[in-house]
Amino acid sequence: MYKLIFRPLLFLFDPEKAHKIALFSLKLVLRIPLLNLVYKHSGMRKNGGIDCMGLTFKNRIGLAAGFDKDGKYIQDLSQLGFGFIEIGTITPKPQDGNPKPRLLRLKKDQALLNRMGFNNEGVEAMVTRLKGSSYNAIIGGNIGKNKTTPNKGSDADYLFCFDRLYDLVDYFVVNVSSPNTPDLRALQDKEPLTKLLSTLQSSARSKSVMKPILVKIAPDLTRDQIRDIIDIVKFTDIAGVVATNTTIVRENLLSKTSNLGAGGISGLPVREKSNDVIRQLRAGLPKEKVIIGVGGIFTLEDAEAKIKAGADLVQVYTGFIYEGPSMVRQMVDL
Ligand code: FNR
Repeated sequence: MYKLIFRPLLFLFDPEKAHKIALFSLKLVLRIPLLNLVYKHSGMRKNGGIDCMGLTFKNRIGLAAGFDKDGKYIQDLSQLGFGFIEIGTITPKPQDGNPKPRLLRLKKDQALLNRMGFNNEGVEAMVTRLKGSSYNAIIGGNIGKNKTTPNKGSDADYLFCFDRLYDLVDYFVVNVSSPNTPDLRALQDKEPLTKLLSTLQSSARSKSVMKPILVKIAPDLTRDQIRDIIDIVKFTDIAGVVATNTTIVRENLLSKTSNLGAGGISGLPVREKSNDVIRQLRAGLPKEKVIIGVGGIFTLEDAEAKIKAGADLVQVYTGFIYEGPSMVRQMVDL
């Protein structure tokens, strides 16, 4: 139904508008008796839940960060069957993000290009929203820094979001890999990343409950950089890694790239890159360290390949836009 009716309609609109329409329609459809049964899914895995990071996930398939940046649709999205929803990236202060257009469909490549630039309503709005609601879902809080905060002072931004959201989410993802905030990816370097993650770990250790922290990395890191990430995960003893964010590499695309502008590419072109990163991480990390595999999952086979490469859980974004809610149902028993 999605691919036959909804997708052709949604794809008539500019992608950012289509995203808003889709989320609004989802809210509406889930409130219409009988019609909602087409989309609702308990998400319960036949062979039981997945124990990971001290949490029990009802299945391995989650929604990746950036889809519900402000945590406005957690309940609706979890009704589609997702085992977990990662909200954010959230920053301390609200910010508009980059000028539009900033989200493009590359249909020939089954991809998206985005240069959103962490548009979000800020962490206080998210705190108010989460405090006023209860959710039947595992929620990840993906945190970042404001564009105007220099890298030198960025630990304070991450720590602020971390502390404000601490009692409201189940795990954290430290996003140092978006290509759309100038210089953010430099925070993946050994020294700043060790410092940042140590700061957050100390804060977590000072609380009554330790919540898992993961770091989200780019698919464009070299082998040496991935080795550094492995060392940092072991040294700081964080829970694991989300691999990967979007790629800035424009090779082998069928779409014309000369006039696309800046941004990160997601979907099919990032699938194998992300699998390769996951394999390298898994080879260097002990099995108790968690890998959430994300990038180019469209089918059950794509998700299985991520697990085979070494991921414990997986997430989708672009595939979900192209394939629709039925893809979640197909992956619940993974
Ligand atoms: C993203 N992604 C992303 N990631 C993140 O950590 N914080 C964010 O705010 C966003 N925002 C965002 C917006 C848009 C429009 C897209 C397409 C993607 C990256 C996303 O979570 C994921 O890591 C990549 O898109 C790769 O997965 P897919 O899309 O190939 O399944």
